[in-house]
Amino acid sequence: MNPDTTLRADADWWRDAVFYQVYIRSFADGNGDGVGDLAGIRSRLPYLADLGVDALWITPFYPSPMADHGYDVADPRDVEPVFGDLAEFDALLAEAHALGIRVTVDLVPNHSSDARDWFQAALAAGPGSPERGRYLFRDGRGADGSEPPNNWPSVFGGPAWSRVPDGQWYLHIFAPEQPDLDFTHADVLADLEETMRFWLDRGVDGFRIDVAHGMAKPEGLPDMVPMEDTGLLADHGPGDHRFDQDEVHAVHRRIRRVLDQYPGTMAVGEVWVSDDDRLARYLRPDELQLAFNFKLLTAEWSTEDLRDAVVHSLASVSGTPAPACWVLSNHDRPRHVTRYGGGETGLQRARAAALFQLALPGAAYVYNGDELGMPNVDDLPEEVLQDPVWERSGHTERGRDACRVPMPWSGEEPSYGFSSSPETWLPMPADWAALTVEAQAADPSSIQSLYRKALRLRSSSPAFAGEELQWLPAPEDCLAFRRPGGLVCLLNLSHAPVPLPEGPVLLASADVSAGQVPVDAAVWLQG
Ligand code: NOJ
Repeated sequence: MNPDTTLRADADWWRDAVFYQVYIRSFADGNGDGVGDLAGIRSRLPYLADLGVDALWITPFYPSPMADHGYDVADPRDVEPVFGDLAEFDALLAEAHALGIRVTVDLVPNHSSDARDWFQAALAAGPGSPERGRYLFRDGRGADGSEPPNNWPSVFGGPAWSRVPDGQWYLHIFAPEQPDLDFTHADVLADLEETMRFWLDRGVDGFRIDVAHGMAKPEGLPDMVPMEDTGLLADHGPGDHRFDQDEVHAVHRRIRRVLDQYPGTMAVGEVWVSDDDRLARYLRPDELQLAFNFKLLTAEWSTEDLRDAVVHSLASVSGTPAPACWVLSNHDRPRHVTRYGGGETGLQRARAAALFQLALPGAAYVYNGDELGMPNVDDLPEEVLQDPVWERSGHTERGRDACRVPMPWSGEEPSYGFSSSPETWLPMPADWAALTVEAQAADPSSIQSLYRKALRLRSSSPAFAGEELQWLPAPEDCLAFRRPGGLVCLLNLSHAPVPLPEGPVLLASADVSAGQVPVDAAVWLQG
């Protein structure tokens, strides 16, 4: 059967899909400039098909001055030359579809780049102009207006306001190069819809929505409750007026109306809202299909943390039409191999976590390199750091570069087949030869081989049927659950091996042939 036809037929494909996050700069470089691009992704589609992923999420590849590596979008309806062009994107999309892989792209509605024509026009037009109305320009406080209009901090450090030469200030929740748009202005929503249609008409299968809990700002922009940690992408609750305002849901309803005109398409929201009920509001029938639940992404290697992450994620979707949506790592947080302790321990735990994540009911996101057990590269020299967090924090926080180092594909030395150039936008460690896709593909016991087997089972075995999860009694410091189709997953977080439960073993992250599940291991059984 033509995979393209199958793709269109299954409108709810995203409910249990495995999405693969391609951080475009770091996945594969097709033109030898040391930066990943669309041609690189295209050349690696056979790898992704063989790995068994259902869909891609490609991070922003739109024209951008790269103040925040593409999350500062100067033109949402074109391709940044560093990454390719529209023809390359169309070819990638067609080839992915032919291989049965869906493609979703990033939508960045909350802010634009300061290089966008709108912002440049706003600067030129001056205070009180309609052009300024698309952004959040305000007069400052104090007799001479030299104080920012309110006390909001930027999540990248420093105030969320910058002053322009005529004396007004503009709001930027992120970097100064990312001015926030005003969603009460009709142009802003109309433009968002135009962007959505532009990519949907080309054939994309959906969107990942950046800062999906942003966009709406409270009337009058009041001061927020002062907070010690106002930092990156954390959820600070109701006193933090920058996020999760009730008016944001009207924007999501508009987004959904567009998607509903393109059957089989979807959106997942980046919603850093930790309260289960507040998160559930984004998943109402006329809003997002999926919302990342970041509790698993931030959980430490402990029974309590992991169980809590599952319980809360399921609680937030119960009563909504949405399934849960599981993430272990992404381009904003330390990679989980490192979060779980690093080294051999971190790797064994990451293997077990992969089986835990992929056994849970709902959609799952795999970040490029998760399947290789890639760790953070925490010793990048200071002079190569690029994340705006590094500058904005006055060199006190190193930012997110450590989890964004390019992926190693083959060979013995940098850039390990990532690029034809040995130089890459972030340097790659000298000791990654054993980590490469090529080295791991040849080793049936590698984490990559484990992912391949797990994804194959997940998509073919009836054991994975059903969206419910039933906790099972388990030895101390272990977690065990069953899915309606019969899948049993046991995760051993204790300090000693535990007996292997009864039933045929489908897959294990470590050797269970002695009838025991080792420390830091997980097993799938047919229950
Ligand atoms: C969330 C993205 O994941 C992150 O990388 C980016 O810096 C911010 N949103 C701002 O767009």
